[in-house]
Amino acid sequence: MFPSLWGKKVAAKDYSGTIVKAHESVTRFKVGDKVYGQIEFTEKIKSGAGTLVQYAICPVETIAKRPTQLSAIDLAGITTVAQTAFSMIETADSLFQNKNKNPRVLVCGGSSTVGLMAIPILKHKGAFVASTCSKTKFDVVSKRGADETFDYRSKDFQKNLKDATEKDGKFDLIIDCVNSHDVWLISPKILQKGASYVNVGFDASQGTLTAIRRNLSYSLLPTWLGGVPTKYVRPAGVGTRKTMDTLEDLVNKGVVTPINDSVFEWEQVKEAFARLQTNQTIGKVVIKVP
Ligand SMILES: NC(=O)c1ccc[n+]([C@@H]2O[C@H](COP(=O)([O-])OP(=O)(O)OC[C@H]3O[C@@H](n4cnc5c(N)ncnc54)[C@H](OP(=O)(O)O)[C@@H]3O)[C@@H](O)[C@H]2O)c1
Repeated sequence: MFPSLWGKKVAAKDYSGTIVKAHESVTRFKVGDKVYGQIEFTEKIKSGAGTLVQYAICPVETIAKRPTQLSAIDLAGITTVAQTAFSMIETADSLFQNKNKNPRVLVCGGSSTVGLMAIPILKHKGAFVASTCSKTKFDVVSKRGADETFDYRSKDFQKNLKDATEKDGKFDLIIDCVNSHDVWLISPKILQKGASYVNVGFDASQGTLTAIRRNLSYSLLPTWLGGVPTKYVRPAGVGTRKTMDTLEDLVNKGVVTPINDSVFEWEQVKEAFARLQTNQTIGKVVIKVP
């Protein structure tokens, strides 16, 4: 009922493992199945449950069967970012209905874990994908499928984006994984009229209050007070059976591939969290539970 403020809290939300017990109502999975998935966000908030444990209770809606060609480690961290990427792309689903059209999509933060997941999904849907990231990560982002890359640290970043869209056409959708304020400000110039700017990021680098104020202004500040006239969307990002089925399908087909940054043994838990805190990770940090 109430958020778990006291008592034991277990870290992590994603997992990969084997079913050791199933509720009698469950027909889709059986004991012994190799699976991956996530525990419910609301459950995590309510009870402090997590997946950095030997046994976790997981809702059937967000479990998928692991294909034999991939290991438990390969898929241990894939679910939450995939659910997030799906929830962003789903908001503009009608864009991808016409198979003869190749919508132009800009993914801000292609090297973030959400970005690494969104790019191959968008490519699979037939999009032309441009992406912003650091120059040093152009290679990583291109290997995930991006057709064009923009260095967000370049002093000409906004100009380069505007020049490119003048030449090749405006974007039909912007998927912002990192709360790229620079891109939001020029969005009317690079995004088709009426098209969506979908953001899941939260950039607190200039303070949490600034980030909250900015994010509120995106949807609430009218243009006559200086607001940007772009359709702003903030998806809920809740995992569903439908998106889990899509993920399972795309993993089985090899469209979505593992995105691990590093793998740590149980005895190295502290090192694993230290790696996370470097903010230098490209993909997920996985911990092996004995
Ligand atoms: N992970 C999830 O499942 C999830 C779910 C919901 C929401 N979110 C939110 O999504 C955001 C990203 O999370 P994440 O876990 O995907 O991030 P992450 O893996 O930690 O990656 C962030 C990376 O994005 C790059 N970046 C930062 N600012 C950028 C900018 N303005 N333009 C282009 N690239 C930029 C940085 O690369 P450089 O080091 O090269 O600068 C950084 O390494 C966070 O705000 C998070 O709260 C994440």
